[in-house]
Amino acid sequence: MTILVTGGAGYIGSHTVLYLKEKGESVVVLDNLLTGHRQSVLNDVPFYMGSLHDEQLLSYICQNHNIEAVIHFAANSLVGESVKDPLSYYENNIAGTLSLLKVMNKNNVKRIVFSSTAAVYGEPKSVPIQEEDPAIPTNPYGETKLAIEKMLHWADKAHGIKSVALRYFNAAGADPEGRIGEEHLPETHLIPIVLQAALGQRENITVFGDDYPTPDGTCVRDYVHVMDLADAHYCALQKIRNTKESGIYNLGNGKGFSVKEVIEVCREVAQYDIKIETAQRRTGDPAVLVASSQKARDELKWHPRYPDLKTIVTDAWNWHKNKAESFSVVQHSK
Ligand code: UFG
Repeated sequence: MTILVTGGAGYIGSHTVLYLKEKGESVVVLDNLLTGHRQSVLNDVPFYMGSLHDEQLLSYICQNHNIEAVIHFAANSLVGESVKDPLSYYENNIAGTLSLLKVMNKNNVKRIVFSSTAAVYGEPKSVPIQEEDPAIPTNPYGETKLAIEKMLHWADKAHGIKSVALRYFNAAGADPEGRIGEEHLPETHLIPIVLQAALGQRENITVFGDDYPTPDGTCVRDYVHVMDLADAHYCALQKIRNTKESGIYNLGNGKGFSVKEVIEVCREVAQYDIKIETAQRRTGDPAVLVASSQKARDELKWHPRYPDLKTIVTDAWNWHKNKAESFSVVQHSK
């Protein structure tokens, strides 16, 4: 029996594929490679370049690989972009998942682990955020992920498709062994942007807003190591296999860091004095997002191994630094 990982060439997807293989699972990847990277997927993992909208291809994969469960990452996932281009988020995220669920149902695949997000909460009334707190998204990205969670709920009621939705807070870091890491083009996330500046790949860091109601005026986020997220997917899969119960879980470390604090940790790790400038707030950014992950710890038996921000930034830094060094070696040898 095999697990289909959609979006398995993306940042969190590729780390999860690596982790599942280490756990001895059989895996196949579907990715359209619009944002993912083929080289992030191990060579011995069957790989299909294609779209979630292609029901024929999805059916082929389910039947030919004896698919038992799906881990579903494939989606557009940028808050700012979703505000500017909401319709593509509805099309790719909601219509794409609808197509996937229809094919799963037809082919009797009854387990799915879904990449959801802290963006479903919008501006929280209190922190740390609990799963039963109100979900009122402030951007189309969060709206589409919340709509999919609801679709999964009804697909379970009607068709017995069991699901675990994982609401990630801020994914960061890289494989501690340095095999793969975070590589978005263009990059919009705070930690890789700061580290790229430390490597001289960009000039300044722009802090989006310093007038938020937080201790230093900048946004506070809960950063979670990408390998701990990978582990959570494995735990979620085991939960559906063993209990046949659906559920929704937050994934974070329960500790918030402001944008300025993150930049300070990056300065310390990279040993470089990164220059910052302040600009206006970015549309759709809530002031504070910090998770209570007690439910994931209790029910999924998820125990993050890398909760310390300095460790997360160090793993990200090693990945970025080595990539920059191997690139300059390639350039040099031409
Ligand atoms: N930020 C800056 N300057 C930058 C980049 C980011 O000040 O150059 C700030 C942002 O405004 C935000 C914080 O740093 O306050 C973190 O921003 P990221 O872009 O790294 O991450 P987000 O919090 O916007 O979003 C991430 C994921 C979403 C997910 C969300 C949930 O990209 O998919 O975490 O917390 F929904």
